Order: sequence, then C-alpha cells, then structure tokens
Amino acid sequence: MTKGPVAVVTGGASGIGEATSRRLAADGCRIAILDVNKDGGERVAKALSAAGGEARYYACDVADAKAVDAVAAQVAKDMGPAHILVTSAGLIPNTESVMDMDLEAHDRMWRVNYNGTIHACRSFGRQMIAEKRGAIVTLGSINSRLPLPLPAYNPGKAAIERLTQLLAVELGRHGIRVNSVGPTYVMTPPLRAKVEAGQRDMNKIMGVHALGRLPEPKDIADAIAYLCSDQAASITGILLPVDAGWLAAVSYRTYAGGVPWKE
Ligand SMILES: NC(=O)c1ccc[n+]([C@@H]2O[C@H](COP(=O)([O-])OP(=O)(O)OC[C@H]3O[C@@H](n4cnc5c(N)ncnc54)[C@H](O)[C@@H]3O)[C@@H](O)[C@H]2O)c1
Repeated sequence: MTKGPVAVVTGGASGIGEATSRRLAADGCRIAILDVNKDGGERVAKALSAAGGEARYYACDVADAKAVDAVAAQVAKDMGPAHILVTSAGLIPNTESVMDMDLEAHDRMWRVNYNGTIHACRSFGRQMIAEKRGAIVTLGSINSRLPLPLPAYNPGKAAIERLTQLLAVELGRHGIRVNSVGPTYVMTPPLRAKVEAGQRDMNKIMGVHALGRLPEPKDIADAIAYLCSDQAASITGILLPVDAGWLAAVSYRTYAGGVPWKE
C-alpha cells in the first residue's frame, strides 16, 4: 500500500492546528505535529494513531531556527520529506496600546508568530524544493487586513500575508504553492480564556459578522485542506478569509447612520 503524504502542522497540539491535523489525517496524510505543548501534542498524535493513521509529536519551539531545522531533519528521517506544511503555532494577545505594551512580550510574539512561520517555511520548504512539489498554508487572520489594537499581533499577521506572497513567488518555480487562511475569532483555548475572564463579549463579537456566528476550528481546517489539495492546483499567493463575513460586515454594521433594518 502506498503511504500517504507527510503533513507537518506547527501548533498542532491545540485549536486550529489540532483540527487541521485531524482533517488532514482523515484525508490520508501522515501527520507530524511540532509544538511546545507536549501533553497536547502527544494526545493528538495518540488519537490519530489509534484511529488507524500515522502521527508523531515533535517537541519544538518554532522561534528557534536551529531547533526547527533539527526537527525537520528528524521528521524526514522518521517519515520522509514534507509534502504539506501548515504553520499554526502562535501566541494570541489581549488588547493593549503601542505606548504601554511590554516590549519583551512584543518581541517574543514576533519571534513566535512571524519568525516561527519563516523558520518552518525555510526548513520544510527546502525538503519540498528537493522533491519539486509541496503546499504550504500559513495562518493569517482578519488582522492581516485591518488595524485592530493588538500592536504586536496585528502588524505580524499583516506581515505574514505579505511573506506568503513572497514565498509563493520564490517557491512557485519549484512547483510549491504557498497560501494563507485568514480566520476571524475562533473558539479555541485563547479566546475561551478571554471570554471567561470577561475580556471578550460574545454577543458583541457575533454582532459584527454577516452570518451572526463564528466559524468552528473545523471550518478553518476545511479551508486549509482545500488549499493543500489538487483542487487548488492553480491557487497560490492568496489569503483566503474564513471569517463568517466579518470583513464585509465590520464597517457596514458600525456605520454611524445605522443599518437599514431592525436587528
Ligand atoms: N482562534 C482565533 O480566534 C484565531 C483567529 C485568527 C487567527 N488565528 C491563528 O491561528 C493560529 C492557531 O491559533 P489557535 O486559536 O488554534 O490557538 P491555540 O493556542 O489553541 O493553538 C496554538 C498552538 O501553538 C502552540 N505554540 C505556541 N507557541 C509555540 C512555539 N513557540 N513553538 C511551537 N508551538 C507553539 C501552542 O502550544 C498551541 O498548541 C495562530 O497563528 C493564531 O494567530 C487564531
């Protein structure tokens, strides 16, 4: 029996990365989870293996370029070169101002969210170049498109959209496609913690989405799986919003003249 493609998911121990690992495993991929969360990574890898798939957890801090390189070599040895890479490892902050933010936390967020994306794309992208095929999906956000008061996270997500375009051009000639997904708020552990701490009002959040609801982690995973699939063979360099209509609705619904119907 031929073995399925190797899909590497950074941040695969939780949230969107976990849902993506589950979806790609269901599609027949063999999954390598890179995460700093050992318990979560082992839990997901075990569940996927118990369901008949092949999945391994690798302890890895994506902010450390050398560590990512070493894990990439180990994945190639254990499972073969990567066919698919999804960069879901990330930190999600709370609202703050540029003037008052903690600079150490700011720098750490860039090292994880932005540099970590670069590190994974370089280490696994080299394997894809050698194979002359591959698909990469980065995790952007609605933050890639509009200013929100998250001064380390928001510009970082805009930078990830631009990086995705650069990589699409650099790697396209090697037969590798590079795209991004841009989720709106998704109920994963960081958002759940903020809601429970009273820092986010779910009614207010849902009220600025055209669909009046939020996507599930599975909805983001479905979009990622599509971008990795042969059905998206001519799609590269894009950011696909998966936002329940947030980008369309946020300015419309906050128009000072009001919306032309009764809510
Ligand atoms: N949940 C949302 O509302 C939302 C919206 C838009 C974009 N995103 C993006 O989706 C991605 C996943 O977010 P999530 O909501 O699933 O969060 P999550 O916290 O559930 O998952 C993130 C994972 O990344 C791992 N991680 C953190 N730092 C790491 C590091 N240095 N090295 C390796 N792994 C590390 C965590 O351990 C965790 O397993 C992030 O890039 C986030 O910015 C999330």
